[in-house]
Amino acid sequence: MKRIYLDNAATTSLDPRVLEAMMPYLTEKFGNPSSIYSYGRESRLAIENARKVVAKTLGAHPAEIFFTSGGTESSNTAICAAVRDLGCKHIISSPIEHHATTHTVEYLHQNGETALSFVKIRPDGHVDLESLDQLLSKSEEKCLVSLMHANNEIGNLLDIHAVGELCKKYNAIFHSDTVQTVGHYPFDLRHTPVHFITGAAHKFHGPKGVGILYINENVQIKPFIHGGSQERNMRAGTENLYGIVGFAKALELATTNYEADRGYISGLKTYMAKQLQQYIKGIHFNGDTFGNSLYAVLNVSFPKTEKSEMILFNLDINGICASGGSACTSGVDIGSHVIRAINNNPNLVAVRFSFNRDNTKEEIDFVVEKLKGMI
Ligand SMILES: Cc1ncc(COP(=O)(O)O)c(C=O)c1O
Repeated sequence: MKRIYLDNAATTSLDPRVLEAMMPYLTEKFGNPSSIYSYGRESRLAIENARKVVAKTLGAHPAEIFFTSGGTESSNTAICAAVRDLGCKHIISSPIEHHATTHTVEYLHQNGETALSFVKIRPDGHVDLESLDQLLSKSEEKCLVSLMHANNEIGNLLDIHAVGELCKKYNAIFHSDTVQTVGHYPFDLRHTPVHFITGAAHKFHGPKGVGILYINENVQIKPFIHGGSQERNMRAGTENLYGIVGFAKALELATTNYEADRGYISGLKTYMAKQLQQYIKGIHFNGDTFGNSLYAVLNVSFPKTEKSEMILFNLDINGICASGGSACTSGVDIGSHVIRAINNNPNLVAVRFSFNRDNTKEEIDFVVEKLKGMI
């Protein structure tokens, strides 16, 4: 059976051109980047070239880019460093962050290291900036604001410039989980008021298990993994050489095609939304679907019936891959904390469809046809 993959916000397929760029570093170019002989120097050069490509693409300085194991590690590091090294005693976040953020801030709070507040979320899923302003203005402690750039479940986009300016006004540190936007939108970090951002290669056709943490040059944090002197003494351990090469190649490819991919993929999203509206009664979309939202994510609520409760299972039987929430929690049947926060309606079943440049209208027609029978 042919499978239809509509879960690209969970992960994407590896682009063969990325694999090709990685291959030499999985085979003949195996040297440890810290070794001083030629094998090592070759590997070191590949890493530093990758760092330059990433920095240039994001409008950052190479010294501001640290390679990590992915989005989760990057966010954990930024949040813990803001508290432990930068004097933040109050974290302001939102109830709809990815668990990489939520569980980290809750851990620090429960451990007695920080106060914790959550901004209000509007019914359309956007952060209420007035609520953020109020929390910042009332805080007597230095704040860390941790708000994601794009929500992985409903797709809503945050105005990071507006949030960054507010943080500046109150001398707060700003971390933004940009895992869903790096590789999907252009960045100009030199002109973006943010201290930490994150990225994961597997969200834009790169390999899994490699990410970045951008640390603005104006903040100094302590090493986050102790041991060797890799990543300029900040993150010890032999580097994920081929992963890093793959990250840079995937980002480079994504950048050259931003506009074309965006146009095509947002066309698919709109098409599917219109088809669903036309053929299935009682559905609604979660988030600011047709407004300030990721072009690749469509989150749909279906009326709850005996049949629709089994929707993901039935989609899977038909070879259709979609999810109920973030991939990390979709195996657990507790529903989505994001959907609960914006629309706590127990009579609806939410499904996230997320697209990539290889999806087609024919695939969407097939999925809509199957959904008609399932609801
Ligand atoms: C918004 C967001 N943040 C963080 C992560 C975690 O990234 P990773 O799986 O690379 O650790 C993901 C995806 O899994 C995500 O969608």
